[in-house]
Amino acid sequence: MWGGRFGAGPADVMREINASIPVDKRLWRQDIAGSKAHAQMLGAQGILDAADVEAILGGLEAIEREYEEQGVPEHIELEDIHMQVESRLRELIGDAAGRLHTARSRNDQVATDFRLWVRGACAEVDKALAGLQAALVERAGEHAESIMPGFTHLQVAQPVTLGHHLMAYYEMAKRDRSRFADCARRMNQSPLGSAALAGTSFPIDRHATARALDFDAPTANSMDGVSDRDFAVEYLACAAQTAIHLSRLAEEMILWASQPFGFVKLPDAWSTGSSIMPQKRNPDAAELVRGHAGRIIGAFTSLMVTMKGLPLTYSKDMQDDKAPLFEAHDLLDLCLAAMTGMVGSVTFDAARMRAVAASGFSTATDLADWLVREHGIPFREAHHITGSAVKLCEARGGELELLTAEDLATIDSRLAGTSLPDFSVEGSVRSRTSAGGTSPVRVKEAVEAARKELGS
Ligand code: ARG
Repeated sequence: MWGGRFGAGPADVMREINASIPVDKRLWRQDIAGSKAHAQMLGAQGILDAADVEAILGGLEAIEREYEEQGVPEHIELEDIHMQVESRLRELIGDAAGRLHTARSRNDQVATDFRLWVRGACAEVDKALAGLQAALVERAGEHAESIMPGFTHLQVAQPVTLGHHLMAYYEMAKRDRSRFADCARRMNQSPLGSAALAGTSFPIDRHATARALDFDAPTANSMDGVSDRDFAVEYLACAAQTAIHLSRLAEEMILWASQPFGFVKLPDAWSTGSSIMPQKRNPDAAELVRGHAGRIIGAFTSLMVTMKGLPLTYSKDMQDDKAPLFEAHDLLDLCLAAMTGMVGSVTFDAARMRAVAASGFSTATDLADWLVREHGIPFREAHHITGSAVKLCEARGGELELLTAEDLATIDSRLAGTSLPDFSVEGSVRSRTSAGGTSPVRVKEAVEAARKELGS
């Protein structure tokens, strides 16, 4: 493509290090769409004549069909997908192919192709996240009243409803979706027509190509247009954030499936056995989701480090933008599908969860709140009195049920003649009706609202 200035071809290693076709062949649809839009615009502007445009469009369509049926060949000497397509076009239509690259550079071409690809990736992730949300809402609806221990510091803290716990992840997925939507909206400007870096002297119509490719507008500055990869960094930031959420959910599945917890049973379809221990049922998929989060965060880091020292405008370092992004997208796709499958099919042991929820003096806060409400005792003092009550029951080797009204009177004389509050975990969760609280009524409302949001 640039032989005019060179006496000899590249060294083998040069060819190898330079080639991006094994990675960027995934951009073939976007590359052809961009070329079609560009050729049509060149025709409309009178830069190419109608016959050339027709030949180019016909050729591009033939290549599209070819790649669709046979895949994209990897001619390493053709470097990247852009040269691959152009070279095939020349084979198919001859010299007219050489006119396609008028008023264009691979720099604006790759920036355009990649934006289109990442925009599509955002839409795919959005759909997968909606699927995860639907699974969460479904299970939360089933378990709006099931009681489990809520933890802080991984110590039993207060009883909560399982539905409430699951809906926490619904909220995370909702924020993830809004981040991807925001990222897709911001990136939706067309770099096409920025040419190599400075724009072009041809009378192109960048608005027309932007429209044809469903962009909101052309990018405003040609130098920024070819050197910006914020959209890819942002995509990876969103992906990393989503992966962190999935990893936390996976971690809970792993913990909950572990015998000391015994909160869930993963179905056979989501478990693996051991080659030596016949009894084993391992949560490998959840562990891999947790592991893959590391790789996705690594991909995000990789692109930020690639970009941070680059002077304007294009440098070949930027060719390394695609591998981490594609890897992260593929992994995220898999992780979302795995967690959606797991959430949908896991069996919760509600009795076991309830039993653990009633341990560890989990309703102590309810006693303190009751002292405040029924006896007008300031919360700090109520906290102290409750602490003494817990200590007493602990010494007796049991839970708060062992507490008597006489015990309370002994701990604090103001409580003489009092009755006892409801210490049950059911009473505890039922009472937490504050907005966003764990009470079954609030959870059912949240589930209803979520169903509406999802349109289901
Ligand atoms: N394969 C290149 C990439 O992905 C395309 C742009 C090449 N531009 C250039 N001036 N060498 O970044």
